[in-house]
Amino acid sequence: MKRIIFDHCGPPTEVLRLQDDVPAPQPGRGEVLVRMLASPINPSDLMYIAGKYGLKPAFPATPGFEGAGIVEATGGGLLGWLRKGKRVAVISDRNGTWAEYTVTKARQVIPVPDDISDEQAATFFVNPATVVVMIHDVLKITRGAWLLQSAAGGELGKMVIRLGFKSAFRTINVVRRREQVDELKKLGADHVIVESDGPIPEQVRKLVPEGVRYAIDPVGGEVGAQVIASLAQGGRCLLYGSLTDDPVWVHPRLAIGNDLRIEGFWLGAWARKQSALTMLKLFRRVRSLMREGVLQTQFSATYPLEDVKKAVEHAAAPGKGGKVLLKIGVK
Ligand SMILES: NC(=O)c1ccc[n+]([C@@H]2O[C@H](COP(=O)([O-])OP(=O)(O)OC[C@H]3O[C@@H](n4cnc5c(N)ncnc54)[C@H](OP(=O)(O)O)[C@@H]3O)[C@@H](O)[C@H]2O)c1
Repeated sequence: MKRIIFDHCGPPTEVLRLQDDVPAPQPGRGEVLVRMLASPINPSDLMYIAGKYGLKPAFPATPGFEGAGIVEATGGGLLGWLRKGKRVAVISDRNGTWAEYTVTKARQVIPVPDDISDEQAATFFVNPATVVVMIHDVLKITRGAWLLQSAAGGELGKMVIRLGFKSAFRTINVVRRREQVDELKKLGADHVIVESDGPIPEQVRKLVPEGVRYAIDPVGGEVGAQVIASLAQGGRCLLYGSLTDDPVWVHPRLAIGNDLRIEGFWLGAWARKQSALTMLKLFRRVRSLMREGVLQTQFSATYPLEDVKKAVEHAAAPGKGGKVLLKIGVK
């Protein structure tokens, strides 16, 4: 089979390479062998390859934390047997999905109905589950409450906007490109503000004078600090990404005086603490919101595995306007 590998961490365009004649992996008990159809390039994949992620690769490593494929074989166990032959969304925390075949635990493949495309199935878990868990399970945002988010024009940010529209919480959305304002308003954003139009806390307080109860930030650096400074008394912020790779400086007096809660959120760590039943219920919620169009991903380009260097370069480009997908196989 073909797979993408890297032997040490570094810039993805430099360290990734294609291997085109390796044996397919064998599933052990409780595992399944999946023939991959497609896999997205997420910011977490690029961080993992660069050595800046919470999971460290065992070399030679294959990237890719999620994708869509067909279960071809099982290493034994009831769940694997039930999944055999099914088209599934795949979660991979070890072997990687940027390959023609991968092995993962049977409980980490989720059958997808025919009306969900391969592309949407390939982006079933990382962003959709993060959105549902952050909004509904961790922050528990109620109807009418204000949520401020940065990087709002990204694929995850757009899901948050659609979920806000559906669940009747209100969103203030920060973007760095003005051309995204109208698009996000059409999706249901209550307000869209542009980073370069002035300090975020001032722009937010013109809309909500007391500040916002909730905020989520994947940008970090100065934007992250300004998002935190936009919180109301008793406000809560989840830091869930590090797109600038810069630290967030917060004056302790701001946090103390305003009784703020600033927390990190990582889906992988959250998922490891959940029961199989909780995860099953989460998959069901994601599947239904995906079918409703709330948790949809837009794509800007697809590449074959052979063009992985071009694909990762595209995925890291500012203003790419959608997820970049590796198209790996056909049904
Ligand atoms: N903690 C978790 O468990 C978890 C799970 C899923 C995702 N995430 C994180 O969520 C974030 C978004 O993921 P995604 O899939 O939505 O990515 P995406 O589709 O690539 O979108 C990224 C967005 O961030 C903006 N952006 C990138 N660099 C920026 C910067 N330096 N300053 C301001 N804005 C910047 C981009 O703006 P342009 O459009 O202008 O380029 C784009 O709108 C990533 O950081 C990812 O790691 C975290």
